[in-house]
Amino acid sequence: MPARQTVLLVGGTGRTGSRVLQQLLDRGIAVRAVVRSVGKLPPDVAANPNLTVIEASLLSLPDEELRQQLMGCDAVISCLGHVPSLQGIFGAPHDLVARATTRLWHEAEALQPAKPVKLILMSSVSVNRPKGLDTRRGSTERAFLWLLRGVLPPARDNQRAADLLVDKVGSNNPSLHWVVVRPDSLLEGEVSEYTLHEGLVDSLFKPGKTNMANVAHFMCELVTSPSAWAAWKGKQPVVINASSGPAQSA
Ligand SMILES: NC(=O)c1ccc[n+]([C@@H]2O[C@H](COP(=O)([O-])OP(=O)(O)OC[C@H]3O[C@@H](n4cnc5c(N)ncnc54)[C@H](OP(=O)(O)O)[C@@H]3O)[C@@H](O)[C@H]2O)c1
Repeated sequence: MPARQTVLLVGGTGRTGSRVLQQLLDRGIAVRAVVRSVGKLPPDVAANPNLTVIEASLLSLPDEELRQQLMGCDAVISCLGHVPSLQGIFGAPHDLVARATTRLWHEAEALQPAKPVKLILMSSVSVNRPKGLDTRRGSTERAFLWLLRGVLPPARDNQRAADLLVDKVGSNNPSLHWVVVRPDSLLEGEVSEYTLHEGLVDSLFKPGKTNMANVAHFMCELVTSPSAWAAWKGKQPVVINASSGPAQSA
């Protein structure tokens, strides 16, 4: 029997993160969740014996404590995001996702794990792959995005976090391997058929749809399925509901 896997989850009280948490626990995976307020977790989830809750803000958790929580984890899932309020979008920290990603990377390196820790980062279709790989964007959309990143800190932050993994961590880091998951417009709803794509499918002006439950399902697959991990390691897959368009089924 393979040893039970352990995942460090950040952003587990969010709309997508809470679904990730539930699905990880449903799969019997041990979860360490860093949350700002344990009271935000449903009581039955909080009482799950496979869940360890660390009540703290990820950005202010001391380095040693974060390293200790990372120790022995097979994977880290980040569903952190700027909450959709004036304070969440325009208030500090503007670089929540990039800073959290940097901290997780540095502490993974400090641990010098026997095999690389897997980092699964929730991102967005507003994030570009490097070197113009996302060729589907036309000039109007590129100009719109440029403006968006100038005006909205969360849009800039998500791009910086992804760029950090590509440019600084790289695809063959001995301590950290990663996948950047790019959903389109997030929807409620159950797990349904979804498709995975290397590049963009829809335009920001005519967005596709992604159930948060499907994002969670794909993230869990990346933890539990070696073939899913091998297929997407070091990539930035777009995940959309199957009804959103054709392609390779999950
Ligand atoms: N909305 C969309 O349509 C959409 C589409 C594609 C991608 N995305 C991206 O997906 C990500 C997650 O989206 P979501 O809607 O699931 O997120 P969400 O419900 O807003 O949850 C955000 C999570 O981040 C945590 N958080 C926020 N600020 C924090 C801080 N300063 N320190 C520590 N934790 C903090 C929140 O904790 P608390 O519960 O304590 O506040 C919560 O757990 C975002 O990066 C977003 O850009 C969104």
